[in-house]
Amino acid sequence: MGEALDMKEDKAATTSSSRSLVQGKMSTRPWSLALVFISLFLLSLGASGFTRPAPGRIITTRHNKSESHPQQVHVSAVGADQMRISWITDDKHVASIVDYGKAPGKYDLSATGEHTSYRYFFYTSGKIHHVKIGPLEPDTVYYYRCGGVDDEFSFKTPPASLPVEFAIVGDLGQTEWTASTLAHVRKTNYDMLLLPGDLSYADTQQPLWDSFGRFVEPYASKRPWMVTQGNHEIEAFPILHCHPFEAYNARWRMPFEESGSTSNLYYSFDVAGAIHVIMLGSYTDFDSKSAQYKWLVQDLAKVDRWRTPWLIVLLHAPWYNTNTAHQGEGEAMRKAMESLLYNARVDAVFVGHVHAYERFKRVYDNEANSCGPVHITIGDGGNREGLARDFDEGHKTVSLSLFHEASFGHGRLSVVNRTHAHWSWHRNDESDSTVADEVWLDSLSASEACKIDPSLAYSGTTTKDEL
Ligand SMILES: [Fe+2]
Repeated sequence: MGEALDMKEDKAATTSSSRSLVQGKMSTRPWSLALVFISLFLLSLGASGFTRPAPGRIITTRHNKSESHPQQVHVSAVGADQMRISWITDDKHVASIVDYGKAPGKYDLSATGEHTSYRYFFYTSGKIHHVKIGPLEPDTVYYYRCGGVDDEFSFKTPPASLPVEFAIVGDLGQTEWTASTLAHVRKTNYDMLLLPGDLSYADTQQPLWDSFGRFVEPYASKRPWMVTQGNHEIEAFPILHCHPFEAYNARWRMPFEESGSTSNLYYSFDVAGAIHVIMLGSYTDFDSKSAQYKWLVQDLAKVDRWRTPWLIVLLHAPWYNTNTAHQGEGEAMRKAMESLLYNARVDAVFVGHVHAYERFKRVYDNEANSCGPVHITIGDGGNREGLARDFDEGHKTVSLSLFHEASFGHGRLSVVNRTHAHWSWHRNDESDSTVADEVWLDSLSASEACKIDPSLAYSGTTTKDEL
């Protein structure tokens, strides 16, 4: 399934940044500190009732090259045969152009894209470039450079058909724990990384977004990273800064237009012609009158389960959760949208937010249901707040929870063929990565008992009698 991730490919990326450890504190301006305190206070409102262990060490990265050198390079998939290359330059005059080709140093092709920037209080971002390239061949390594500067990067496109390997990790952050998780992610080849929210934990300190971009560049410049947003991406305040997700939307542009969405906060895409992936937004409107809900209905209606037998969803705040952290925070969205996913026979829902791992049975409406999705919490990427250690053994859904553990790690979804996929959770054990939980999943598209009733499919209403 393509080439192994090798250190040679990393060289250009890793040398463009230097890293320094900061013992839980950052050098900041007074206004920034004030925002952090406000932000942490607001975040703590939703985090009462459980105790987190002490924060881990943040790893900050710096840009040591010229202002025109590309930094924070990352790649995301656009349609079946295109990729979007995103990067940032401090120099506002650098062109949004990517040169690329299939041999190192030989760039036969070129594409020009667009750029943006944003202001956040007294911070002004660099020039944020987004360039779509393609058409590209599947399962192929491409070499590329950004803005005409000779730092060479490379990435591999996903295969055109199964099998496909996803790395899935939420609540990533930029700590020593994050570094451990990503080192383990890289040990085994994968085709695409899926991130169900909470990326940088910048929490209003915009330079930490830049640091995060440099931190993940050695990984995100080599494989497509597809993300959705978490609560740490909101960064809005009444009156002072009314535009949520400003940094996230400017920096991590996802292919929402291509899936008919009008918002970067929810979108969908196909992988290997056999998997439809839906990214939802936990922190934008989701009720039945909302644009997100209406888009989801339309998107699900377009899914042909014969052509794409696998249907998976990612969102941030869990709908099923026996951890004492963040209890009930996903409940309103579950009530609004769960029947849509159930009626479409979604195979699995991956979430973050809770800093732990938990896997549920197939469920619907708080009961075991063989035609419902498997729900998996994978919010254990690294963050900066510690693990959510306490699970409620008396929780009303505890009988639905098959495995839980408060450890850092990441997940792997290996979609082997049209009917079978293997899920594994890889716990960070010091320098080793240990498979601590695994299960085979059967696609619901192959289940006669769960055959979709056309009269119910994509409907927001399902009664118990219809189950
Ligand atoms: Fe979160």
